[in-house]
Amino acid sequence: MSIVEAMERPRRLRSPLLRPLVAEVELSPKHLVLPLFVKEGGEKEEVSSMPGVFRHPLAGLPRVAEEALEAGLGGVILFGVLPQEAKDPLGRGAYAEDGVVQRAIGLLKREFPELLVMADTCLCEYTDHGHCGVVREGPLGFYVDNDATLDLLARTALSQAQAGADVVAPSAMMDGQVRAIREALDRGGFAHVPILSYAVKYASAFYGPFREAAQSAPGFGDRSGYQMDPRAGLWDALREAALDDLEGADMLMVKPALPYLDVLHALKGRFPKPLFAYQVSGEYAMLKAAALKGWLDERRAVLESLFALRRAGAQGILTYYALEAARWLQEA
Ligand code: PBG
Repeated sequence: MSIVEAMERPRRLRSPLLRPLVAEVELSPKHLVLPLFVKEGGEKEEVSSMPGVFRHPLAGLPRVAEEALEAGLGGVILFGVLPQEAKDPLGRGAYAEDGVVQRAIGLLKREFPELLVMADTCLCEYTDHGHCGVVREGPLGFYVDNDATLDLLARTALSQAQAGADVVAPSAMMDGQVRAIREALDRGGFAHVPILSYAVKYASAFYGPFREAAQSAPGFGDRSGYQMDPRAGLWDALREAALDDLEGADMLMVKPALPYLDVLHALKGRFPKPLFAYQVSGEYAMLKAAALKGWLDERRAVLESLFALRRAGAQGILTYYALEAARWLQEA
């Protein structure tokens, strides 16, 4: 046998007719969930660090819902945006019966029952200090009181379910939050409402543009006392995911996405639950900025990132690119 005959030739499978047959990763619009920022009234405003992403007034939601349905998206996830004067230390706007997210859910589910509506369950968009829980003064400065926060998160999730949310998605990174929310939902008659847990959520600089969008940057300190350290080993991710699994989460999420592909991949198949990834605001901003500069082919770079997340193990992906990506996928 000559050397040439013995040579392995991976390129044989890269012909136009074979590439689609041997491709394993599939991505379609139904895998994508669109995050939406919702405010009470006023005009729709573009988020300056996220060109193409808007804060929508309630009245503007039906138009977006139509687009999401036409695009065939998996669903939307709602985040409330409040003026500073409507916030308070306990984040009452998060669990108010007539809160902006509760009203948005009601409106969407009434007009678009076939649209899957998720609600982000957290306090940071509603607290005047911008932290995800109840803040107290301790000997070493401020801290977020874990157990005092659980009740508020449970109330938030319950009020979202009462408003008609199809899924609640706790993102505060308080220990025991999934259990507290599950109990409150079950007691309140919402045993059928699933929990998508932001189980593995890192203290990330990539949330910067989101905090501008939601006006939810902490007024002091940072979130490293409750969100995960990017330098922590895989044990931390496994522990967080295992706890949320035991506490009754129905779906588990890793966030951010692209910088944590290793974590996503390590979790895949370890828990008998669907795994999600959140391509966060900073990931969107990087891609968008490079695209606007003409430095990247936006469509190819975005789809490649989303393929990577699916390949690493994500069932569903939360991404600000959901509508554009759906359009690109349909054209392809
Ligand atoms: C609420 C929450 C945040 C994000 C999702 N839910 C902000 C944060 O933790 O600071 C970030 C999403 C993004 O950056 O796109 N806690």
